[in-house]
Amino acid sequence: MTHQRLYINIDHVATLRQARRVSYPDPVMAARVCEDAGADGITAHLREDRRHIQDADVVALASQARTPFNLEMACTEEMTRLAERLRPHQVTLVPERREEVTTEGGLDLRHEPERLADTVRRLRRAGIRTSLFIDPDRAQVELARQLAVEAIELHTGTYCAHPDDPQTLRALQEAATLAAGLGLAVHAGHGLTVFNVAAVAAIPECEELNIGHAIIARAIFDGLSEAVRDMRAAMDRARAR
Ligand code: PXP
Repeated sequence: MTHQRLYINIDHVATLRQARRVSYPDPVMAARVCEDAGADGITAHLREDRRHIQDADVVALASQARTPFNLEMACTEEMTRLAERLRPHQVTLVPERREEVTTEGGLDLRHEPERLADTVRRLRRAGIRTSLFIDPDRAQVELARQLAVEAIELHTGTYCAHPDDPQTLRALQEAATLAAGLGLAVHAGHGLTVFNVAAVAAIPECEELNIGHAIIARAIFDGLSEAVRDMRAAMDRARAR
């Protein structure tokens, strides 16, 4: 099978920074580390409530990411204008509800089809590859095709919550086959970890995965002992003077 792209979602680097409203950890620096480690692209979601990624992060990522930048955003006038200005490599349109902990479901393409079609047209005019984040549902895939986007991203959340239910994986496989047959590029993501990624990575039509939380969470433990040792050493150096 051909190489499957891994895009790293760096939102939660910004979550940690915003917990203190300081300048670190910096998502742009995180993007660089991910790229050096083999990421094929960088993903960030600028939410309406700005709970993690900020406007300045997106501006910096659009110009400083060395790999393609995938901007996740809601289908709003504010976000569409920003995308038209920054022209990221790719925009993934996602649903957004203020009170949600994370993106909880795919876009319902039956909802406000005019607004969606207009946004897709504007993004295309700006030369941006457009992807729609949808549930693995036949009707949604067919509607995505009608919108003439380049790609869909299949929401893997139900599979990740119920990996032992064969129907959750089957839904992803069938949606991927249908979409690819209609000429759509197939991406997938949400909730993927090293423990559940294999079955999704093995879907032949799936050319790109977007993964964030599990990687950032794992990185904390990979770096924690070194961070403690560095602090211990800094204190000991001061006391030895
Ligand atoms: N894809 C989309 C459209 C998302 O909204 C998210 C979460 O922001 C992800 C992928 C990544 O999900 P996770 O952080 O659970 O890996």
